Amino acid sequence: MSDTHSGISRRRLVQQSLALAGASLLPARSWPETRPAVRTRAIPSTGEAMPIVGLGTWITFNVGNDATLLNESAAVMAAFFEAGGRMIDSSPMYGSSQDTLGFGLDTLGSSTPVFSADKVWTSNANNGAGQIEHSQQRWGVPRFDLLQVHNLVAWEPHLRLLRQMKAAGEVRYIGITTSESRRHAEFENVMHGQPLDFIQVSYNIINRDIEDRILPLAMDKGIAVIANRPFQQKQLIHRFEGKPLPAWASEFEAENWAQFLLKYVISHPAITCTIPATTRVDHVRENLACATGPLPDANQRERMAAYVRSL
Ligand SMILES: NC(=O)c1ccc[n+]([C@@H]2O[C@H](COP(=O)([O-])OP(=O)(O)OC[C@H]3O[C@@H](n4cnc5c(N)ncnc54)[C@H](OP(=O)(O)O)[C@@H]3O)[C@@H](O)[C@H]2O)c1
Repeated sequence: MSDTHSGISRRRLVQQSLALAGASLLPARSWPETRPAVRTRAIPSTGEAMPIVGLGTWITFNVGNDATLLNESAAVMAAFFEAGGRMIDSSPMYGSSQDTLGFGLDTLGSSTPVFSADKVWTSNANNGAGQIEHSQQRWGVPRFDLLQVHNLVAWEPHLRLLRQMKAAGEVRYIGITTSESRRHAEFENVMHGQPLDFIQVSYNIINRDIEDRILPLAMDKGIAVIANRPFQQKQLIHRFEGKPLPAWASEFEAENWAQFLLKYVISHPAITCTIPATTRVDHVRENLACATGPLPDANQRERMAAYVRSL
């Protein structure tokens, strides 16, 4: 399939141009012995432990062939794995992000502990299998850990395909995603009617729509939940960064607004992990640090939500 090969050759071209530019690549290394223990939640369908903070790639990893930005993305991935992270989420919708991930995984070596989460996103039911194969080539992985139907696009045929792939051992987990509240009724119907390992939905301290129905339903049905857009694509950081962080945020070791916002998301018991996206090594470390310290309890969560409402 020509698309597939274009993914590979694109990555090779990137590697070659970096070599020609004399770019210093991060050395391949061994991860397991250097990784700290982080808080995990069990994926309900298997009990597998998942670190509660992952990494998104929409926009932030869409860096094209820019050698400096590719190396910076690989450095973000290295810091993410070093800090105990595993789940990285992408999609064929995210420009060159899948190629950037492939470059980073190549650079960091084959022993990275990545949990690869990708999506199928095409309105043509017949194109799903080819798109997934192309995505695997771009990441450079033999199979994905998780495949999700992106934004419920053509979900019936794509979920059928994903179920067949799971039965054949070609993917470990399957799921659906949305970031739009207006799709929640349809989303709930799919959760009721289809066997799913994961759902991915938008959740943050301002956008709490899923708390009433979708999170209780996920807990009831034993479905893992990935919370996307924890900072609403940085809008929440911009909205709060000039405001005082309350003194009581130290009770659950939130040192800044990013950690305050992330700790709200991951302290909900139905959330399996959240996937903040970043271009920066210091930010990925700050985000992963949320997976090692204390989390707010139910009363503190209410206080957090009331405080941001008051600002
Ligand atoms: N329907 C779907 O399936 C769907 C929809 C939307 C999103 N997603 C997934 O969810 C992921 C996350 O959502 P999102 O991309 O909307 O963005 P987000 O994670 O809510 O916000 C990303 C922004 O936050 C900033 N940031 C990250 N860590 C920070 C920190 N510690 N301090 C200050 N700023 C920080 C980043 O800027 P810096 O680069 O400066 O750190 C970046 O601009 C996506 O990348 C994608 O993988 C899925």
